[in-house]
Amino acid sequence: MENVTPVEQLIRDRIRDHGPMPLSDYMALALAHPEYGYYRKADPLGRDGDFITAPEISQVFGEIIGLWCVATWQQADRPGPLHLVELGPGRGTLMADALRAAGAVPDFIAATKIHLVETSPVLRNLQQEKLQGYDTTWHDAVDSVPHGPCLYIANEFFDALPIEQYVRTENGWNRRCVGLDPLTGRLNFVVDRTPIVTAGLIPPSVAAAPPGSLFEHCPEGLEIGATIGGRLATGGIAALIIDYGHRHRDVGETLQAVRGHDYHDILVDPGDADLTAHVDFSALAATARTAGAVPFGPVSQGAFLSNLGIEARTNKLAANQDEPQANLLHSGCRRLIDARGMGTLFKVLALTDARLGVPAGFEALAKAPDYRRSAH
Ligand SMILES: C[S@@+](CC[C@H](N)C(=O)[O-])C[C@H]1O[C@@H](n2cnc3c(N)ncnc32)[C@H](O)[C@@H]1O
Repeated sequence: MENVTPVEQLIRDRIRDHGPMPLSDYMALALAHPEYGYYRKADPLGRDGDFITAPEISQVFGEIIGLWCVATWQQADRPGPLHLVELGPGRGTLMADALRAAGAVPDFIAATKIHLVETSPVLRNLQQEKLQGYDTTWHDAVDSVPHGPCLYIANEFFDALPIEQYVRTENGWNRRCVGLDPLTGRLNFVVDRTPIVTAGLIPPSVAAAPPGSLFEHCPEGLEIGATIGGRLATGGIAALIIDYGHRHRDVGETLQAVRGHDYHDILVDPGDADLTAHVDFSALAATARTAGAVPFGPVSQGAFLSNLGIEARTNKLAANQDEPQANLLHSGCRRLIDARGMGTLFKVLALTDARLGVPAGFEALAKAPDYRRSAH
């Protein structure tokens, strides 16, 4: 008897009944099925989990973001109440570190209400433990977060949202789906030959790519980007989006599965492996701009954290620690900013209310004459 995960059984049954499913449906079931979805049933983060994220590598990451929030709030003339919103907060580590650093400005803490957009009950429990004593509200989606002065933070959130893949065939562009191999009965990739409307979906710059090319599109991410953009244009303040991804729209496959800190087959063990895709920052910035926000960047994570003083803060913290702890802080800092670590692949995009001006960490962009166009 073949051993398949409960999500895979469900996916196979659906494909048998209804035919191949869009990749975004496959990812949504694998990641977010209410009972068996990857993010719903366990905590995947940390050295003992499947992957590690920046806030789990060094406390200074969250601290720098907390100081960025204070600086941006001050730049917006300190409105209150301020809604500090984090999308996909994981274990709550980033928010806890950010609030500890922001505690140096008591007025900021006094003005702030915390909102966490999180669908995982397991992670919500961890967040609750970490953030005891703070006025915190949980949301299933960003839509229910109050309007008004808001700062939005998202670290490795957008890469976890379901994507679609389109493949260039001899007939134009077609959707890639997940089907069942008739010989083995296993999941496989198939191409749905139904013609698709490419206008507004496949950018002109990639439309004529050679047959076999793949183009990835994240409808849910763009919808959330449009919601945040609209909120920023009507009284919000700014959003800071940190993730791995690309600056310019292009063909290529970035979808990957990771399990136990190693690559895994995308169609094997759905629900037990993480699935992510690079964030298309230019599409996200353009969507938010259309909704009324002003994008800055993306800049590399290394440049952003360095501009905001990660090395000085790490040195100061390390000076009061024993040697192993100090080494851990220094190596964590290097991993976050070095090109061979996360410094270049990871990028930071700011979206702002048009009245804000240049946010902290993006000053170098403002010196370029065409900085307002940098995120097209
Ligand atoms: C890769 S983890 C990143 C965690 C955290 N930001 C960090 O840096 O450690 C993705 C987070 O997004 C949450 N998540 C994934 N899809 C979501 C969705 N559609 N709505 C809300 N949260 C989601 C997960 O439960 C998890 O907290």
